[in-house]
Amino acid sequence: MRTQYALVTGSSSGLGFEICQYLLEEGFIVFGASRSATDIDHPKFIDLDVDVTNEESVQQMYDEVGKETYGLHLIVSNAGIFEMGSVLDTESDMFLDHLKTNTLGPFHILKHGHDFIIENVTHIVHISSIAGKKGFENVSAYCASKFGLNGLIESCREEWKGLGVRFSTLMPGAIDTPIWENISDDFERSKMLDPEDFIQVFDMVVKSPPNMQFTDITFLHKSGNLE
Ligand SMILES: NC(=O)c1ccc[n+]([C@@H]2O[C@H](COP(=O)([O-])OP(=O)(O)OC[C@H]3O[C@@H](n4cnc5c(N)ncnc54)[C@H](OP(=O)(O)O)[C@@H]3O)[C@@H](O)[C@H]2O)c1
Repeated sequence: MRTQYALVTGSSSGLGFEICQYLLEEGFIVFGASRSATDIDHPKFIDLDVDVTNEESVQQMYDEVGKETYGLHLIVSNAGIFEMGSVLDTESDMFLDHLKTNTLGPFHILKHGHDFIIENVTHIVHISSIAGKKGFENVSAYCASKFGLNGLIESCREEWKGLGVRFSTLMPGAIDTPIWENISDDFERSKMLDPEDFIQVFDMVVKSPPNMQFTDITFLHKSGNLE
């Protein structure tokens, strides 16, 4: 089978970490990119340093990718942050951090990832959120950043139509990952999906026929949103 290359941002923790492990099992050569190191020791795993908020850092990351391959079969834009606070309690810096990481970051990944597109092959998967299509109380910064991300994806899909790129967007509800570690204990982990549930959906997306893209896969725990 031909060698397939994947880039995964936010590989050091949570879903990104699980996605990297899954893709390695599927035989991909995986570039994992985060600000901190990713604890995966595998001959087909290449750990890269990136701060997605910083365009120069993203360019340097792609320079490293370019030393190994001319093209990426799969780009998973997953890096993200999540904090809670009412509109009145949210500092501008906190709001901006969300936009920089969750919206501007994926923009940098797309803009500079363009050089690595393999026409009619590359599949770009974004890990957005149900909070990118529905507002939640005390989540304004995160919701704004994910609504913005969805707009970015929709525009780029139209612009790159001629390249035969597939754009798939996953919009999960709460999943039990370290992202919840600094959030109030009021949210029951038993009412969240497990990372393995997420990987089942991701697996379906990755193995889908090459003429398909998923514009919006929304999925959540059967108990509903954590409200
Ligand atoms: N868990 C959920 O309930 C849930 C639900 C819906 C959607 N999501 C989305 O899923 C994605 C992954 O979340 P998770 O739950 O796996 O969270 P997580 O465990 O906190 O992991 C977040 C990852 O993003 C990376 N990251 C954060 N800021 C970055 C930056 N500036 N540059 C590069 N990497 C950065 C982190 O690595 P470093 O800190 O090492 O850089 C880490 O690897 C996020 O986009 C999140 O919004 C999560």
